Amino acid sequence: MAQAKSLVDLDKAHLIHPLTHPRHFETHHPPRIIVEGKGVMIRDLDGREIVDGFSGLWCVAVGHNHPKIIEAVTKQMNTLSYFTSFHGVSTPPSIELAAKLAGMFDPSYNLTRAWFTCGGSESNETNIKMARLHWALQGKTDKHKILSRRYSYHGMGLATTAATGIFPFHINMDPLPEGFVKVAAPYCYQCEFDLEYPACGLACVKDIEEVIEEEGPETIAAFLAEPVIGSGGVIPPPAEYFPRLREICDRNEILLILDEVITGFGRTGTMFGHEHWGGIRPDMLSLAKGLSSGHIPLGACVVRADIYEGIGTSQDERLPLMHGFTYMNHPVGCAAGLANIQIIEEEGLVEKAAQNGDYLQERLQSLTRYDSVGDVRGMGMLAAVELVADKETKMPIEPENTAPEMLVDLCWEKGVFIRSSTMETVCIAPALIADRETIDRIVDTLDESVQEMEQKLLK
Ligand SMILES: Cc1ncc(COP(=O)(O)O)c(C=O)c1O
Repeated sequence: MAQAKSLVDLDKAHLIHPLTHPRHFETHHPPRIIVEGKGVMIRDLDGREIVDGFSGLWCVAVGHNHPKIIEAVTKQMNTLSYFTSFHGVSTPPSIELAAKLAGMFDPSYNLTRAWFTCGGSESNETNIKMARLHWALQGKTDKHKILSRRYSYHGMGLATTAATGIFPFHINMDPLPEGFVKVAAPYCYQCEFDLEYPACGLACVKDIEEVIEEEGPETIAAFLAEPVIGSGGVIPPPAEYFPRLREICDRNEILLILDEVITGFGRTGTMFGHEHWGGIRPDMLSLAKGLSSGHIPLGACVVRADIYEGIGTSQDERLPLMHGFTYMNHPVGCAAGLANIQIIEEEGLVEKAAQNGDYLQERLQSLTRYDSVGDVRGMGMLAAVELVADKETKMPIEPENTAPEMLVDLCWEKGVFIRSSTMETVCIAPALIADRETIDRIVDTLDESVQEMEQKLLK
């Protein structure tokens, strides 16, 4: 107990927690210290067994502490713990993982070039720079703007913060880099045009066309989009959305960068999110999270081969590709990635996520009987519940963000970990290995917690 107390004190005294208000953290609840994980379960410092209903942070696809990843990482650490990949040097796991990814997409997409980062932000930062480089080397230096959607989340670097469409992330961060332009999101529940799908004719897609027209297609390098918006409140698009977006990008010579940091590796019930809509060809892909199931930091950028090769043809021979992080193509991270993908394939986790994901979505729908549950949405093992004060006006329960945070706390007290987002939602994303019993436990706990939350906030 003495040890437990000192960890709490040391955390409060020294550790900075992301997305946590410093003063709120002091007074709200003691740090929730997680000491062990196995499969879908985690254990806290007090010895409580908790169901991880959020895969850590949408990442632990194969479950916590998977023995095969631990084995692969340990073996690689004992063989070669680190080496650079700058200046044409490499290591076997990074080569093998790049080759593995190259075979995971429709061959006609030509997505056969990859490099590895430490996470999603680095992957998006890298792809944004590659898109600019691609056009600049063709003499189109004006073609530098990045389009993205309101409610999107792309990371914490300066470019990725600018690309992110959740505006609280922009507060007090000025000046953000220029050239990041926002368009409407396919957020049907709170449509910014006050229209109803399908009668709207996809006004959000028309908005994209209008913004491209206003900005000038000759100034736009890329459109950056998550197949299903994640942190912005889990927002799946209507079926025609991405086919139309792909066509608009083609017509205007705009690269489509798909941010599959959450949706990659089975989360939505297909290996990659873009496979849902008749195979939308991405020009570049940003991956992370489910790539290593969070066991070790790992992200990836997968790029159309001709984009990469075009740099080789056009760039002055004396100037190398002027981008790279110390830990790019990390051998231990890549060994984890290889083992993780093998597990996903061998254990049939994509199919499992599709089947159990349908069950999760169906069970969550029952929550719409509550006055405060305005919308339940998602795909596969990725879901959100949006809370409202009134289903007619869809206004939030006051004070803002209190209801989702309270739900997270109530679930935690009952032994289930989920997450709130700033968009008045709680998000649910269990590991792909979660069975129906685990899903029942998560949904039943959430159900009880909604009742309690309503009693506290609405009555
Ligand atoms: C869609 C998306 N892109 C990028 C990121 C940033 O990834 P990271 O936190 O690994 O830098 C995230 C993280 O949640 C994400 O959800």
